[in-house]
Amino acid sequence: MKITIFGSGYVGLVTGACLADVGHRVMCVDVDEAKVARLNAGEVPIYEPGLEQLIAKNKAAGRIEFTTDAAKAVDFGLLQFIAVGTPSDEDGSADLKYVLKVAETIGQHMHDYKIVVDKSTVPVGTASKVERTVAAELEKRGLDLEFDVCSNPEFLKEGAAIEDFSRGSRIVVGTDSERVRKAMLECYGPYNRQRDKMMFMGVRSAELTKYAANAMLATKISFINEVANLAERLGADVEEVRHGIGSDPRIGYSFIYPGCGYGGSCFPKDVKALAHTAEEIGHPAEMIKAVERVNARQKNKLFEKLCQAFDGQLAGKTIAIWGLAFKPNTDDMREAPSRALMEALWEAGARVQAYDPEASDECRRIYGERDDLVLAEQRDDALEGAHALVICTEWKAFRTIDFPELYEKLEEPVLVDGRNLFQPDTVKAAGLAYYGIGRGDSV
Ligand code: UGA
Repeated sequence: MKITIFGSGYVGLVTGACLADVGHRVMCVDVDEAKVARLNAGEVPIYEPGLEQLIAKNKAAGRIEFTTDAAKAVDFGLLQFIAVGTPSDEDGSADLKYVLKVAETIGQHMHDYKIVVDKSTVPVGTASKVERTVAAELEKRGLDLEFDVCSNPEFLKEGAAIEDFSRGSRIVVGTDSERVRKAMLECYGPYNRQRDKMMFMGVRSAELTKYAANAMLATKISFINEVANLAERLGADVEEVRHGIGSDPRIGYSFIYPGCGYGGSCFPKDVKALAHTAEEIGHPAEMIKAVERVNARQKNKLFEKLCQAFDGQLAGKTIAIWGLAFKPNTDDMREAPSRALMEALWEAGARVQAYDPEASDECRRIYGERDDLVLAEQRDDALEGAHALVICTEWKAFRTIDFPELYEKLEEPVLVDGRNLFQPDTVKAAGLAYYGIGRGDSV
């Protein structure tokens, strides 16, 4: 099957590489010439385990190619995936300008029947807007060509995207057209062999499914963080509470890890966008707004704990931070809790010595060279001359610490464990002050 994918970002590249790998012919198109040149030279502009190899393999086999030529790309595929960004507008709504620009492009260049597939996360009602945009362009050209628009949201996690694409729990397609149904079954057939994962539904239901899934997951996180804040004040340990509640299969263990707040390119943006949609239709979504407020407060926690540890005297202190990415196995720092912490520390006159296995370049790109930021090459280099250590991301490499050695290295023996990786007693036995998330009287 011939497939065109607009947008060679995270979702576009993973979708393209995975569909090529099962034998489809894929053309990826992007407006960014530099990015396309890099992709053609075999470089993958984002870090995602396995993606570079998958693209290289399928490029060599002639199943995936990259271009900036939109006319050629529209001509190519029966399926025209839209996988461009939908950033948050100032008011929190999803900005559809890139999605609608692609719809315009498709309308300007198509010569025969096409199926436009909305893969980007877009507010309910976007498929109708895409349809109107394509139709308006065809009308300008005086053409009356048939086309369909369907919704096919993605549920990929950064760091596990290829695995999620290949072995995801469901493939949601929003359409009422039999022709689209057949084409999407053919497209995803190779990923649908072991059991039937295809879920066909109405277009609007598919669009809302994506937001509801992310909002539900974000709710679980904010809920446990709220419980952590209660536990802290009530002298309970949220880790014990987490075990206690997760054992109930109706609740389950997943996504109830307390921490320093959710980040990334999806949860913050999608929760805001859903809250905005709710306002627009005159039904303010109280729960969703609370999820966001709790998360904003949680991102401040690590700074508050340092203030507590140093009696608010952070000016002139050097703070070591392990983990800059919003979660392990990615270099993505969008909305990362580490950013809220670093910015608050700088504001308070402290210096930061940070280490992340993948995100140093990204951090340099965001903050540039500055006197109060050192990016260490090795985990333990970040500790040199530091007063305290804060763990922001639960990379595997941070799970083993020689605490007596850490005690010797730090100017002040303070460990702020933003992901509850350690047992407070073990840390305290080495003489360090331990600050976790929601662990009662943990100092
Ligand atoms: C998320 C969803 O998990 C995917 O299903 C969805 O497709 C994707 O958004 C999207 O909309 O594209 P992702 O943003 O890659 O994927 O990251 P997650 O692994 O879900 O983590 C999100 C954040 O929640 C991280 O900051 C993580 O540290 C935090 N988190 C997660 C917790 O604080 N506690 C938990 O128990 C789980």
